[in-house]
Amino acid sequence: MSRHSTMAKECSGEGYKSHFKPREYFRSNLRGLQRPQEGNYLPWALKMLHQVFSHSGLHGQRLLDVGSGPSIYQILSAGEAFDDIYLSDFIELNRNELRLWLDNSPEALNWSPIIQYVCDLEANGDTCESKSERLRKKVQSVLPCDVNQDPPVCGIDLTFDCILTTLCLECACMDIEKYHQAVARLAGLMKAGGHLIMVVVLDETFYQIGNQRFYCLTLSEATVREALMKAGLSITVFEKCSRSEFADAYANFTAIVFVVAQKNPEKE
Ligand SMILES: C[S@@+](CC[C@H](N)C(=O)[O-])C[C@H]1O[C@@H](n2cnc3c(N)ncnc32)[C@H](O)[C@@H]1O
Repeated sequence: MSRHSTMAKECSGEGYKSHFKPREYFRSNLRGLQRPQEGNYLPWALKMLHQVFSHSGLHGQRLLDVGSGPSIYQILSAGEAFDDIYLSDFIELNRNELRLWLDNSPEALNWSPIIQYVCDLEANGDTCESKSERLRKKVQSVLPCDVNQDPPVCGIDLTFDCILTTLCLECACMDIEKYHQAVARLAGLMKAGGHLIMVVVLDETFYQIGNQRFYCLTLSEATVREALMKAGLSITVFEKCSRSEFADAYANFTAIVFVVAQKNPEKE
């Protein structure tokens, strides 16, 4: 199949609004939900997030998660380390899924096995119910966002101690220049000395939800490092895990990287 015909099937940009199916993404791409097993993306990401928020002592007042999708797994450890949490996504369908979970609706996606997994990592006797309740109280709002626009997040005029973004910028940015701009925009929302935490896929051209392919910007390790550096951020963690470690790969990446970068104090 030619590159052109492959590209034509890949959804991007505004296409997310009609083609991204939050429930199918939850069911098929975040595999390992019912029993988070070793060798899947989720337990790896949850352990990395647990490490940085629970063991490394990263904490603060305000955290913004950019491109949350319908997901809350990425804020489970952060919820213990930050007072106020803001979620955001490009499409209303995802924001609705987040609101259902925040409202504890019977219609909401069932994150309980994942929450329990993080309770087990934290090992402080917390229950899934009490952790969920605490987290719901900390989430201040679910905001529209577009990392290609200035400002990237609508309806808020705040700076953040921490910005988190998992598997998002490479889906949203159509070229390397836009990727650099998006990273710089996020850095612009951060307090001096604040942290940007990203989960990034390397060398991916597409990912799939069911039969629908989504575009992905092909990123190298060097590109990610350069974007952070140009945005005035210093990398403190860069943990790379190769594709062979993941049993549940549904895309053509070569590695996933967990990055923590700190905003230089003079750049606020
Ligand atoms: C692969 S999903 C990742 C969702 C979530 N962060 C996770 O880890 O499960 C990619 C997300 O990027 C969002 N997205 C797409 N274009 C975007 C844009 N221009 N600005 C911000 N987010 C965007 C999509 O709506 C989708 O929720």
